[in-house]
Amino acid sequence: MSIPYLRAAGTSLVLDARGTGVPVIVHWGADLGDLDGELLATLADASVPAISPSSIDVPLRLSLLPTLAEGWSGRPGVSGFRPGRHGALTLDLRLAEVQAGSGTALPGTQTLAIFLTDAAARVAVRTDLELSVEGVLRLRHTLTNTSTDSAAPPFELGSLDVILPVPDRAGELLDFTGLWTHERRPQRSTLGHGVWSRESRHGRPGHDDSYLMAAGTPGFGFRTGEVWATHLAWSGDKRTWAENSALGYSALGSGELLAPGELSVANAVSHTTPWTVAVYSAAGLDGVSARLHPWIRSWSTITGPRPVVLNTWEAVYFDHDLPTLARLADAAAMVGVERFVLDDGWFTGRSDDRRALGDWFVDPVTWPGGLHPLIEHVHAAGMDFGLWVEPEMVSLDSDVARAHPEWVLGGVTEDSAGVGAAAGVASATAAGAASPALTWRFQRVLDLGDPDAFDWVFARLTALLTEYPIAYLKWDHNRDLLAGSAHRQTTAVYRLIDAVRAAHPGVEIESCASGGARIDLGILERVDRVWTSDTNDPLERQQIQRYSSVLLPPEYLGGHLGAATAHTTGRTSELSFRLATALFGSAGIEWDLTRANETELMQIATWIARYKHLRPLLHSGVVVRADPSDPALELHGVVAPDQNSALFAQVALAAPRAALPERMRFPGLAPDRRYRVAPLTLGAPPRTIQDAPPAWLAEPGSSGTAAGAALGAVAADRGSADDDPGSGGSVTLTGAVLALVGLPAPLLAPEQAALFTVDAVD
Ligand code: DGJ
Repeated sequence: MSIPYLRAAGTSLVLDARGTGVPVIVHWGADLGDLDGELLATLADASVPAISPSSIDVPLRLSLLPTLAEGWSGRPGVSGFRPGRHGALTLDLRLAEVQAGSGTALPGTQTLAIFLTDAAARVAVRTDLELSVEGVLRLRHTLTNTSTDSAAPPFELGSLDVILPVPDRAGELLDFTGLWTHERRPQRSTLGHGVWSRESRHGRPGHDDSYLMAAGTPGFGFRTGEVWATHLAWSGDKRTWAENSALGYSALGSGELLAPGELSVANAVSHTTPWTVAVYSAAGLDGVSARLHPWIRSWSTITGPRPVVLNTWEAVYFDHDLPTLARLADAAAMVGVERFVLDDGWFTGRSDDRRALGDWFVDPVTWPGGLHPLIEHVHAAGMDFGLWVEPEMVSLDSDVARAHPEWVLGGVTEDSAGVGAAAGVASATAAGAASPALTWRFQRVLDLGDPDAFDWVFARLTALLTEYPIAYLKWDHNRDLLAGSAHRQTTAVYRLIDAVRAAHPGVEIESCASGGARIDLGILERVDRVWTSDTNDPLERQQIQRYSSVLLPPEYLGGHLGAATAHTTGRTSELSFRLATALFGSAGIEWDLTRANETELMQIATWIARYKHLRPLLHSGVVVRADPSDPALELHGVVAPDQNSALFAQVALAAPRAALPERMRFPGLAPDRRYRVAPLTLGAPPRTIQDAPPAWLAEPGSSGTAAGAALGAVAADRGSADDDPGSGGSVTLTGAVLALVGLPAPLLAPEQAALFTVDAVD
């Protein structure tokens, strides 16, 4: 066990745990095949580097928890101090033990626990490593303050991070940034000497969340290149980084970002970090998803098909009344919606976004009979019912803030920002909080670390869930914390969600944070859906969903069909594009359907019927994306795990750069099997600019040559809304031909998407 060797799904990890030093990752990357103990020892020996000039006098090796004590002057794996003692503690950890198979992981997962101690500093660290059957590596540390002297000062933790080596050839970085309604914008860089660090101090990952930090061979894409990617499964403050040290090592690091003094580890107490999730892929970003998605599905809380949702937000905003909502529910049921979600605006006095958060009682004026009449109407129409809540927040203009100003994080004073709403509130300060009390969307944060505040919110949620048959909570979080207590708040919200789930096991939860500002694998252990973004504009959504799905399987990614003119951008899109975009996720509608015309309603009904039919494939399959040569055109799809069927979308984001676009090359199919490729119209067909479709898409039974028939079929119809990319045409070819040669694409107008079914015929 002195050189543990973990292997799964094309990934291997070799750890040199000989001697008394902190173990060293000798290799994390491509599978190295069968290696016996002797070969592993030779590999570990042969990996010891030279001693460079002007350096420490022993070979420098990047360990699992590097510190100055090892000669590592890059970002340390652990830092902290004991009050009263001058300066930071340089931990000099020694290996005490390595245990295999000691974790509580999923079946088939290989686990290692590494025990380190620094007796003089009275600190011990346990590092857990897990390699899942899908090749997903997880690591976390547990630091224990081993002091038994109750009078001794605690260990003030500065940082405790997971640091993983990557080879020099992984010189190109990809991570993400974004804004409200524009989440998951990819950014690439080349790492020179130094640290590229993405830090979140939002108290939630934020719209600009780094999401994944990927290092790869130059030019890596969706299908090509080696990639090493990490993600921190944590919903609070965090940092993820890549470091290329002049010392000769490159590494990816991640950990919770702690404010000074935020985390004191008392004597005889332990602190466990969030998991860092790490994936190696020899086949680009699709290879990353191909490991993460089945692994997430192996522990997912999702138990059944994702219901088609109608969310009321962009349909009615705060204008709630029973007749209007009942009419909306009827329209939703008519087109096949399965879940009706009443968004913000239902609770006491919530007439706009300036008041009432925290007063989680059904508004008696709008709802004299409570929510019962609406829920009964929704149930009678054959749908289940969901409700919006924002349990971590409070408006200063609320009964709860007036009664308990001490529950408001950061305190409340008469001159608090947004004070107009808080007249009459006494001065008070929440424990541990000293930040300026700014409002954000006119709201403040409820200090869930306060046990009374926690109990009160839990009691309100549980009262609602007990009184009403609520199948689903949309759990929102609409502001940054702006307080130095993100750790306490994040652990408290995890406890709150866990408590709600335990008390009401059937209730599903969606994580929303002004759209996609809290999408991470920490929250995902507790929720069944994420609200990917507040924008329903399909052009924005194409990119947001494309990159959100690198980490998350599509069944988690809420995507809604919005009104023709998107509320967030003012851009107008055709129904076919909106339908094709919302299809690839957990589909829903956020549009006042009572204003849709008959044709639109019929097309939406067709779309929902087809979605229900495709749902098993879309929500269990392998997500694939071709690498585009023209950034205006993208091809993406989902292939069934048994490779029997697939659904693809060819998307035109803008005008193509050539009259004839690059062929559509369909990735992920079985090379030797034969597949029939055919266009699929879901409700409304996409608009094209072609005088004739490609020959293979021509109507069957047309006279003359295939090409001639195709030209004749649609030439008279150019630009019309009925201009299908090829109604009826199809072709049967092998998976290899479809992937390597591909097929000519229909000439889509900008902001259009064409769908294709691919079915094995052998
Ligand atoms: C922000 C969410 O992202 C929206 O979907 C909506 O629920 C509003 N909050 C309601 O206030």
